[in-house]
Amino acid sequence: MITKSSLKIGIIGAGKVGSALAQSLRMSGYQVSGIASHTSDSASKLAILVGAYVQSLDQITLQCNLIFIATNDDSVTQVVQNAKWNANHMVVHMSGSLSLEVLNDAKNMGSSIASLHPIQTFVGQDSSFVDVYFGLDTSSEILRDLLKNIVSELGGKVIDVSSADRALYHASAVMSCGYITAVLNDALATWVSANLDYEDGMQALVRLATSTIRNIEKIGFSESLTGPIKRNDKTSVKKHISTLQARSPHLLDVYCSVGKRMVSLVYKDRPDENHEWAQLFNLNSERKI
Ligand SMILES: NC(=O)c1ccc[n+]([C@@H]2O[C@H](COP(=O)([O-])OP(=O)(O)OC[C@H]3O[C@@H](n4cnc5c(N)ncnc54)[C@H](OP(=O)(O)O)[C@@H]3O)[C@@H](O)[C@H]2O)c1
Repeated sequence: MITKSSLKIGIIGAGKVGSALAQSLRMSGYQVSGIASHTSDSASKLAILVGAYVQSLDQITLQCNLIFIATNDDSVTQVVQNAKWNANHMVVHMSGSLSLEVLNDAKNMGSSIASLHPIQTFVGQDSSFVDVYFGLDTSSEILRDLLKNIVSELGGKVIDVSSADRALYHASAVMSCGYITAVLNDALATWVSANLDYEDGMQALVRLATSTIRNIEKIGFSESLTGPIKRNDKTSVKKHISTLQARSPHLLDVYCSVGKRMVSLVYKDRPDENHEWAQLFNLNSERKI
């Protein structure tokens, strides 16, 4: 049985996720012993915050038994290849896109390995994992139990994600974060092309988007749908399309392609309506090209 006091935690990569993790672990009473990073500057800032030592890769593997790799994805392989792993190590990477196999060098040296990906966006300020889901992949029961306990103490929840399902799992997370951001950015560009103020648009549209997300959470997708497609109001949508064509043709593509996705949500049980709407969007996105 691994106890909290027997854990010596090392974090490699003092960036956004590494910093959030180190601080949350510290606040939950875990001992974060060592921080290693690309530059000593970011490592020492984080080490001071959590009462840890700045360490080299060799020192971390010598002194720590639970090691989180929170570097950028491209550096994970290099870190894994350069470290001296042994059977006392439990090695965990935090990437959503990388599979468990990237840690095979450590596994071959006897270490237990896992990937633990927080389904959250970290931009450098929010250090909380409360209510955050984590995608976990590991074949070690001991490490699975340990990571589940740790995540639960941080206030989060673990779901198991197999290597085979990982790419789709990560694609869904990317759509829920970056894609939403891109669509909102285009909504704001459309607002600005109506000669309206950017800051007003930020306030108005982010508020609208936030209330939509809250509705989805409370009452589900179907009940949250509003607007002209839901009301079957083709005249309004034709007006949007013709005005976008005239004044902001570069935004027509996203308007039509996301519109088609909304149609399939609203009219999934009404194939005739679905077809008519799809034709309206297809015709217009082709005309633009
Ligand atoms: N950000 C997110 O929203 C998010 C969400 C979920 C999962 N993740 C995953 O979490 C991991 C870290 O992402 P991040 O956003 O925290 O990245 P980040 O802010 O860019 O931080 C990466 C850190 O890795 C350090 N680093 C780079 N190469 C290194 C090496 N060879 N040895 C030691 N340290 C090295 C960098 O050091 P210096 O600062 O010293 O240059 C930097 O602090 C990635 O796998 C990412 O996919 C990120």
